[in-house]
Amino acid sequence: MTPVQEPVIPEGDSQVSTASVRKAIERSREIEEQIDIDPSRFRVLTGDRPTGKLHLGHYFGTLKGRVELQNRGVDTWILVADYQVITDRDGVGPIRERVLGLLADYLAAGIDPERSTIFAHSAVPALNQLMIPFLSLVTESELHRNPTVKAELQATGGRAMTGLLLTYPVHQAADILFCKANLVPVGQDQLPHIELTRQIASRFDRRYGRDAEGKPVFRRPDALLSKAPAILGTDGTKMSKSRGNTIELAMTADETAKILKKAKTDSDRVITFDPVTRPEVSNLLLLASMASGEEPEVIAERIGDGGGGVLKKTVTDAINDHLAPLRARRTELEKDPAYLLSVLEAGVAKANEEADRTLLQAREAMGMVY
Ligand code: TRP
Repeated sequence: MTPVQEPVIPEGDSQVSTASVRKAIERSREIEEQIDIDPSRFRVLTGDRPTGKLHLGHYFGTLKGRVELQNRGVDTWILVADYQVITDRDGVGPIRERVLGLLADYLAAGIDPERSTIFAHSAVPALNQLMIPFLSLVTESELHRNPTVKAELQATGGRAMTGLLLTYPVHQAADILFCKANLVPVGQDQLPHIELTRQIASRFDRRYGRDAEGKPVFRRPDALLSKAPAILGTDGTKMSKSRGNTIELAMTADETAKILKKAKTDSDRVITFDPVTRPEVSNLLLLASMASGEEPEVIAERIGDGGGGVLKKTVTDAINDHLAPLRARRTELEKDPAYLLSVLEAGVAKANEEADRTLLQAREAMGMVY
């Protein structure tokens, strides 16, 4: 069993209020129960920017959860958010290669293209057209106040804010609303996005009215907060490619061992699980725990006074064992880009059908079908 840890409630300096996080946690628990009763009530939309390879933070934080939702019978839609790549950088990068890599990661992790829909939003014109009426429903100052927009602007290191970065929460609302998803698995920092999406759905209803049958055009989605504890990089700071502290799904067992050999530990030879006073050691134990299913305390106990060396070997073996079948599938999938692209093409076709239908409803509501 993966250790289920309470999501950390952010302190006062966080942009998202404690009350709204607590409410979202409670709501997520209720939804989890409802999924067990009737998974067919839910459609999940989630996605990733193709800016690099997926790492263990993505895998344990969201990808594994998506596969579980799919396997519990929830209709799962996965977005390759390619337009979002250009919100905060100059070019698209090696986009084709990255999209193929993302597709391989998804399928190797257990996303089943027969049951789930994988698509790229750049290939779904009607989704993007929804952005026009949606932009009429938000104010410039609301967008400037969005905590995620602010954080991403800061991360670009003093670059000027582009129009797309400022408005990307509206685009993200279109990603969710076009397919009438009612569940969006996110981290706590993304809660303001879901709130804005709900506002856009309500405001559309109030301002432009309903579809031809008198029903609201858009469903108001809920956030589904992950129960998985946050994973840090091998140096105990945020896992991110630029810090060289990530373990990618696509790495070989040897590359994984090499990265973990350099992992940060501390001078106490007795290994204990204590996330507050020993963040680096505890993060490595958590990684071993997520990969092996054993409790971190049990793993620590077994290592005892074996020190950092034994800890690193334990984590390396746990991760490499857990990922071996995924990596083998991934290697096979990467050899067959035509197959990967055919999966994307089928998903894009399905997304376009849905988007065309929704856009027509929106235009009807607005009296713009002549
Ligand atoms: N913002 C997400 C990321 O950074 C990707 C994304 C785009 C997304 N649109 C979305 C996630 C809609 C959930 C719902 O990876």
